[in-house]
Amino acid sequence: MSNGWEISAQAWIDSIGEHGDWAREHVLDPVMLGRVGKGRFERALDVGCGEGRFCRMLSAAGVAATGIDPTGPLLERARQHDPSGDYRPGVAEQLEFEAASFDLVVSYLTLIDIVDFRTAIGEMARVLKPGGTLLIANLTGFTSAGAERGWVRDEEGGYLHFPVDRYLDEHPFWFEWEGIRIQNWHRPLAAYMTAFLEAGLQLTFFAEPGPLSGDAAHQERFRRVPWFVVMEWQRASVG
Ligand SMILES: C[S@@+](CC[C@H](N)C(=O)[O-])C[C@H]1O[C@@H](n2cnc3c(N)ncnc32)[C@H](O)[C@@H]1O
Repeated sequence: MSNGWEISAQAWIDSIGEHGDWAREHVLDPVMLGRVGKGRFERALDVGCGEGRFCRMLSAAGVAATGIDPTGPLLERARQHDPSGDYRPGVAEQLEFEAASFDLVVSYLTLIDIVDFRTAIGEMARVLKPGGTLLIANLTGFTSAGAERGWVRDEEGGYLHFPVDRYLDEHPFWFEWEGIRIQNWHRPLAAYMTAFLEAGLQLTFFAEPGPLSGDAAHQERFRRVPWFVVMEWQRASVG
């Protein structure tokens, strides 16, 4: 069954623009780019690169980036934006690269889209060089457990609370906004942490970033509900 990405691709491209959506621009990009730094990495794989925004940011930071994504129209858009970039069709569960090919692997809000995330995390670890870094931005389990229903509002539309339900049960749900309708997966945090640990990775950075800029109303909402985690996991160095 379709996960909705092919049908939603144009709406996604329109919605994300070059600055990214509000959360990328004001919450996630500063942390993700801060982790990439300057001169820390040479060769990166962006797993689920979409229309290539983060690959372009990696290139601007001096990192040679390869993006893979299963959604054709998003890859086409990535190539239009960046004709000399390296964008390839593919799924996280079966990466076409040899072991130890990259010193940085990025998953920027893609784990929630990936059906077999355990296999995918094993694949991401496999293509990392020893000592290499897996940089993850993901929805928190609190948010994915409440995203389908969303905020409960009062009669004037004010935001009351954000209910969490079925937290410990892994389950898919359909998520709709701005003409985009895609299937995502809810998993509790422990499911992801266990998969990283079973892939032999070590946690070296963990953050629940809040907004660093942007309008006050959005900032308040993004402080009330924990939307994102950013993590770095490292493959052990040899010897
Ligand atoms: C929320 S978008 C994020 C795109 C990009 N990383 C960004 O932050 O702009 C999720 C992406 O995951 C991709 N995707 C869905 N299933 C996937 C899979 N099995 N392996 C890799 N990517 C997948 C979708 O095509 C989509 O581009």
